[in-house]
Amino acid sequence: MNILGIESSCDDTGIAIYHPQKGVRAHVLSSQHTLHAPFGGVVPELASRNHIAQCVPLLSQALAQAQLTLQDLHAIAYTRGPGLIGALLTGASFAKSLAFSLGIPALGVHHLEAHLLVTLLETPVPQFPFLALLVSGGHTALIEARALGDYHLLGDTLDDAVGEAFDKTAKILGLPYPGGPQLAALAATYPADKPLPFPPFPRPLLKQKGFQFSFSGLKTHARLTWQESAQDTKAQQVIAFAFQSAAIDVLTQKCQRALRHTGHRQLVVAGGVSANLALRQALHALTAPLDCQVTFPNLAYCTDNGLMIAVAGFHYLMQGKQDDTLAINVHPRWPLHQV
Ligand code: KG4
Ligand code: ZN
Repeated sequence: MNILGIESSCDDTGIAIYHPQKGVRAHVLSSQHTLHAPFGGVVPELASRNHIAQCVPLLSQALAQAQLTLQDLHAIAYTRGPGLIGALLTGASFAKSLAFSLGIPALGVHHLEAHLLVTLLETPVPQFPFLALLVSGGHTALIEARALGDYHLLGDTLDDAVGEAFDKTAKILGLPYPGGPQLAALAATYPADKPLPFPPFPRPLLKQKGFQFSFSGLKTHARLTWQESAQDTKAQQVIAFAFQSAAIDVLTQKCQRALRHTGHRQLVVAGGVSANLALRQALHALTAPLDCQVTFPNLAYCTDNGLMIAVAGFHYLMQGKQDDTLAINVHPRWPLHQV
């Protein structure tokens, strides 16, 4: 069974072909970073237009990579939401038209659930139920994943998502767009045992009970520290480090709290920020003495991609699910617990 996955919820067009026994047969991406860089953020209309331009060439590339033809495809999964409405509509229209023309099922999937489910390709395979930390550009959430499609939200962010805070702090420091990974790379160059030239950054909401997050104050603290600094490369490096340390400390301590609260022995981390190596290290250090298994997606599949959509589609197709109408129906806002 060859499942085509199409991701187009934000600024990356991703197409992949997944075969449950043979694994990943194709994985191609087109990033729009250079397109949006002059604006310092994603311009939704430009994103939609670029998805339209990329769908057909990427599909050809994916088929060539897998050495398959259109007739070898058995189903098409696409991102139904959440995301930018125009961007979602391009992927959904393309996927559903193609599926209709080939006479095969189409299936819309939830973007965040797909981020989680792509970790099921890792070994040892996480088994439901597990605790999930979802960290991306648009979301930060601790979730009890009870079964496929059964998610209980423990806590999410009151303001900025953690990836968004990484990106905004990077922008404040004058790092090129998109800044999250660049800020992380710079932070990694600061010696971890070297004292900071200022007090540690705040750990928002750590003293409060519960599982809510807040990252906007941390970003503002970085801005104020930057404004009071020499605004040189040394200041960039130490502020990047102080910001990242605070953000990771909060994520790690809330994971510890949630593991204790729920009693789960498996933690699954997903979304773009799961690519962060310092976060990976901190969560390994947390879970090892607790005899708890922590799973991250392969680094190639942390940020948005078509494979996660194909894998999520596979799990639902196995349950007999598929779109039952030709209507193009996307959900720009779609809480995970409403899947
Ligand atoms: O999951 P994703 O590709 O898109 C959304 O669904 O939002 O996540 C993108 C986010 C961006 O905010 C990006 O800066 C962040 O993930 N990100 C990172 C790293 N790699 C990507 N943040 C911190 N460290 C990284 N290494
Ligand atoms: Zn994403």
